[in-house]
Amino acid sequence: MVQTVFVANESHPDEGRVSASPDSVKKLKTLGFDVVVEAGAGLLSRIPDADFEKAGARIGAAADAKEADVVLRVRRPASAEIAGYKSGAIVIAIMDPYGQEAALSEMASAGLTAFAMELMPRITRAQSMDVLSSQANLAGYQAVIDAAGEFDRAMPMMMTAAGTVPAAKVFVMGAGVAGLQAIATARRLGAVVSATDVRPASKEQVASLGAKFIAVEDDEFKAAETSGGYAKPMSEAYQAKQAVLTAEHLAKQDIVITTALIPGRPAPRLITRDMLKAMKPGSIAVDLAVERGGNIEGAVAGSIVEVEGVKVVGYNNVPGRIATSASSLYAKNLVTFLETMVDKETKVLALNTEDELVKATMLTHGGTIVHPNFAPVPAEGVATA
Ligand code: NAI
Repeated sequence: MVQTVFVANESHPDEGRVSASPDSVKKLKTLGFDVVVEAGAGLLSRIPDADFEKAGARIGAAADAKEADVVLRVRRPASAEIAGYKSGAIVIAIMDPYGQEAALSEMASAGLTAFAMELMPRITRAQSMDVLSSQANLAGYQAVIDAAGEFDRAMPMMMTAAGTVPAAKVFVMGAGVAGLQAIATARRLGAVVSATDVRPASKEQVASLGAKFIAVEDDEFKAAETSGGYAKPMSEAYQAKQAVLTAEHLAKQDIVITTALIPGRPAPRLITRDMLKAMKPGSIAVDLAVERGGNIEGAVAGSIVEVEGVKVVGYNNVPGRIATSASSLYAKNLVTFLETMVDKETKVLALNTEDELVKATMLTHGGTIVHPNFAPVPAEGVATA
């Protein structure tokens, strides 16, 4: 029996991305799936229904999700959407699972096998499925474009007959995937760029992009990277030293872009109101971590606000601001992951719960929350078989 993939039209008002592209539909067809795309799903990513049809998909309605063996989404489904999926269906999305136990229970109770793409391990085999990288890379680029749009001066140095315009000074805080792309983009626009991070590995990467590295490089810094490549939360003492260095450096900058995150925790606070006050009036601060609590004091998710004379930019869903590119990469991430679950000979889904990619990303299965980070802790004294 042919199995069906359903591509949802995202219901969230901030979401312009879609979980498939004409290319990914073609790939899904070669894997043996029938593909149903919910009408209008690609419109905000500039993919008309006709393009999905040309690639071999059928255009359907939300109710078609009921028949689907696999549902592809950008975001976690809402309650009404969960109710429309059949028990046993695989649902793959950016699930944003931390602190969402109720939503996870709902998916478990509905019998869904839900996968969180953002939990994909950062190993070579899974690089092409890494949504954090594909989306953060575009967010880092877009942050610089947004900053340049708000800035009332030029980014590059311009020597003209009427005088010289100095290059803008851009400081990037957090030099992971988004930060490194922000550095590269700001450099391409001609800015003078500096950057900071707490992971020692980032020092060389920053330098190789032609930016100056600025950080408190003490013993804690030397041990700040987890085996997974992420940052650890830093001690209060480190944060105090970091704040002094940041304050001094910020006062000389025109634009700051913050991208600092720690998986599963609120974003670290890196810039206080006082530090903003020390910046020149008309400076720009872009907080890419605003949806996770924010790196900048006073940043407001979904808004641009003026704080102490600095324009603080806090757009939600920055990859969604560059939706066409973001959807194309995200769709590729999804189809590459789904391919690992399909038996090459029989062309049917053959979920291997021992696969490390499945183990790392599967949230719910067989009616329960199965992921160790989210599974309910058994009450003390209760025997677990
Ligand atoms: P992320 O989105 O979790 O955090 C962004 C950046 O903020 C990180 O560089 C982190 O060190 C930094 N940060 C955290 N706390 C900070 C603080 N208090 N002050 C300053 N900076 C702070 O990280 P992202 O972008 O996902 O990258 C993490 C690492 O994973 C990087 O080394 C990246 O190169 C690596 N990576 C590896 C991949 C692979 O091997 N397949 C794929 C993608 C990334």
